[in-house]
Amino acid sequence: MKSFIASLALPLLAAAAPASQVTSDANPPFTVTAVRSASPIQNLQLNAAGQKFWLGGSTSSYCPTEVVPKCPPGNQTVLAPGGNALDVEVPGGQEVYVDSTGALSFTQAHSANVPPGSVVGALAYETGNSLSHYTFNAWGASGFMACPTADKRWQVFVAATNATVPSGNVNDCLGFSAVAMPYKGDVPAWQYA
Ligand SMILES: *[C@@H]1O[C@H](CO)[C@@H](O)[C@H](O)[C@H]1NC(C)=O
Ligand SMILES: *[C@@H]1O[C@H](CO)[C@@H](O)[C@H](O)[C@H]1NC(C)=O
Repeated sequence: MKSFIASLALPLLAAAAPASQVTSDANPPFTVTAVRSASPIQNLQLNAAGQKFWLGGSTSSYCPTEVVPKCPPGNQTVLAPGGNALDVEVPGGQEVYVDSTGALSFTQAHSANVPPGSVVGALAYETGNSLSHYTFNAWGASGFMACPTADKRWQVFVAATNATVPSGNVNDCLGFSAVAMPYKGDVPAWQYA
């Protein structure tokens, strides 16, 4: 909790200036849309919620309104340039990584803690001729799959045959193309939760 209290002072300073981000067109912040035609996940958005990522549903975020005069809407999930972090205002940021089960994951605010066995730094934004993509380059995988959960959601994992998925069988998962759409505008969230 010590670091949390220390960090509360920073937003006040940051709030004095409008939130803005310096990026190049070649390496923008971005949102992700799943493409797998004729499937239930076609065109679903990638959403951060509960330290994990999902297709469809909604983004889960938090903003300390008593501290931040103008909270960003926090209703869409935007990756920071490069794709190994989320695009947030919270001091320290939030890292995106792949946990030991293969689940795409993000760190809690005010904590750099990544569980043992996780893969860090292997995510990327790859510019294509027409479309750009979000990729994962480790474990012999290059992309992602969506796996059904007991509560009827689609959880995002890296498309590796040794992933440990909710149903217990990777054949239940649907591989998809993670199309990355450049995001323009103010930082979209204080922190994802
Ligand atoms: C997010 O909320 C803002 C403000 O309420 C709204 O204008 C915008 O359409 C919403 N965006 C999404 C992606 O839901
Ligand atoms: C999954 O397989 C890849 C490639 O063989 C390996 O690098 C990785 O460590 C494996 N992951 C787990 C959790 O066993």
